[in-house]
Order: sequence, then structure tokens, then C-alpha cells
Amino acid sequence: TDSLLLLAIETTCDETGAAVLEGPRPPAEGVPVVRSSVVASQVDLHDRFGGVVPEIASREHVRQLLPMIDEALRRAGVGLDRIGAIAVATRPGLVGSLVVGLTAAKAMAMARGLPLVAVDHLEAHLYACQLAYPDREVYPSVGLVVSGGHTSLFRCRGPIEAEPLGGTIDDAAGEAFDKVASLLGLGYPGGPVVERAARSGDPAAYDLPRAFLRDDRLDFSFSGLKTAVLYALRGQDQRGRAGADPGPPPPQVAADLAASFQEAVVDVLVAKCRQALRRTGLRRLGIGGGVAANGRLRERVSAMAAEEGVELFIPPLSLCTDNAAMLGVAFAKLAAGQVADPEIDVTPGLVR
Ligand code: KG4
Ligand code: ZN
Repeated sequence: TDSLLLLAIETTCDETGAAVLEGPRPPAEGVPVVRSSVVASQVDLHDRFGGVVPEIASREHVRQLLPMIDEALRRAGVGLDRIGAIAVATRPGLVGSLVVGLTAAKAMAMARGLPLVAVDHLEAHLYACQLAYPDREVYPSVGLVVSGGHTSLFRCRGPIEAEPLGGTIDDAAGEAFDKVASLLGLGYPGGPVVERAARSGDPAAYDLPRAFLRDDRLDFSFSGLKTAVLYALRGQDQRGRAGADPGPPPPQVAADLAASFQEAVVDVLVAKCRQALRRTGLRRLGIGGGVAANGRLRERVSAMAAEEGVELFIPPLSLCTDNAAMLGVAFAKLAAGQVADPEIDVTPGLVR
């Protein structure tokens, strides 16, 4: 037949993902259809540490990956013998986590003589926009990846042609959500719990910093914001001990701080997207990554896009947080002849 079934593997951080996608057989081009996509979350294991513990993450990937692959194949209703290519995220991410996915992918590709496609995790997050709108023209566009590890703006000429425009100089936006959630005693991961707490809070209760908001640069900084939340909390500590851990605040204080923090992050993300659109003259905006699941961000960025008269692409929540379906970008790579060398290694750091 002229369609190709691809098995995708995602193990860059703390979610073990496997997916089966069906797309045009290269060199034909086209957006694939997701036949199945499963994710084993490790959230419960990292919860009590308030963040991802790399050693636990890699061990859990070892335990979960083969069952996830079996489940993805089962839900797609195919055996491994029907798979014609393997895609795996090889960068960036936690080294131990990346190695588990790549080792499995290499072994299967080698054993079955299949082409192996190495995918950039950020490119995959951006491709989720195309996957969610298969019939729409998504490129050229401004792309924002906003997740636990990244806050980066790109000029996307196509699915595999993303040029960096700017990014965070310290924490990622999702990392700030996670740290603030921990300060407020709300649990992990921070995004969803801060968003929930913010619903009963006043976003104007605290005046928190919005780094680079009016500067003519497409960069971000969120570490000062996190520190400002800490100082606001210490102000709440009646004992006022300098440097002491203030402990979790009363619920209304937590709600007001969560709302004020979320509004500050959203203000900056929306402003920088607007700036990037104006600077590049592009008329489309795509947003990917876990923080793109945030309801307040989705609401505010939709309003901005309408004001600016640009088309907005934000994937449904399941395609925002880490998953293997977004590795469907591998079809664009295959069409461009970009098959990985069998000796390929992982690249943990951000190479841009
Ligand atoms: O894309 P992702 O699953 O993994 C990385 O590549 O980092 O993103 C995870 C991040 C976490 O920091 C989490 O707190 C954040 O996305 N997140 C959210 C929401 N859901 C997840 N942040 C804000 N609001 C949300 N609803
Ligand atoms: Zn991610």
C-alpha cells in the first residue's frame, strides 16, 4: 500500500509515551493520522520530591516502555511486523531518560531493518499544532514552546525548519509553575494545581514582576518572579524570621498568589508572542508544550490573536503535555530523507 505505519517513542523526561501513526509513504508528504497514543505518567513517583528525580525517571522508563509499546500496537490493532519505521525523541532531555527510549528504538530498528528517525522534542511539541489541525496550513508561523524544560520562540518555516528567535535566560515557565506550587504547598506538577487554585484568587492581589515585558527582545526570565512569590509569602509570615521557610500559606493567600503569579506569566507569554508576530510579520501562531494546557493562557492568547488578526493553533490538552503522537513530525523528516545513523547518540542539552 502507499501508507506507512510508524511507531513513535517519547522518553525525554518523566512521561513514557508510545504511539502508532499512519501517514503517506515517503517521499510523499502529508500529515499522519494518530492510530493510537498512550502515556504512562510518573507524576505519583516524583510528587513527594516536588520535581522530577532523574534516576527514578530512567528506571521507570525501563519498566514502562515495552508495556507502553505493546499497548500502543494493541490499540492500533497491528503487530510489530506491520510497522515500517521507528521514531524516537533523542534531544533535548534528561540523559538517562533519553537513553532508554533510544536504546529500545535502535534495537527494534536494527532487528527489523527499519529506518530510524531522530526527533527533536521541541520540534515535536510544535508539530502537535499541525497534528491537531491536519487540514489547515500551519506554516510559516511563529512557534512558542512553553513547557517544564523550555520557553522558546521560533520562526517556523515548516515542520522541520524552526529558527530560534529567543528563549528563557533562566527558568522555564512550567518550571516556575512547579516551584511556585511547591512554595504554596499545592503539590506537583505545578501547572494544573496552580491553575485550579488561581480560580478562587484575585490576579491583582500581588504586584509581581514581568521580566522584559516592554523590552525589545524576545527573551524570557522567570526566576525573579518565583523569588518575588517567595518574598510575598515571607511577608505573610507573622513571625517574620529572616530566611526561614514560611511554610504553606492560608488557602486564600495561596489562591491570590497563584492567580497573581499565573497572570504575570501569561502577560509575558502573550506580550512576547505579539512582539514576535509583529517583528516577523507572520500571520500564524502555534503554541505547544505542557503550559499550553493552561486555560488562562489559552483565553488570553486567543484574544490577542483575534486583535492582531492572526490564526492561532493550540493543540488539545493531551497533545500539549508530553506524548509520542507529536513525534509524527518524523513523517516530514522521512519525506526529506532524514534517516538517523544507526550509531546516533542522545543530545541531552539544548543545541540551539
Ligand atoms: O511538555 P511537558 O509535559 O514536559 C516538558 O517537556 O517539560 O510540560 C510539563 C510542564 C510542567 O512544568 C507542568 O507544570 C506544566 O507543563 N503544565 C502546566 C499546566 N499543565 C501542565 N502549566 C500551566 N498550566 C497548566 N494547566
Ligand atoms: Zn515536553
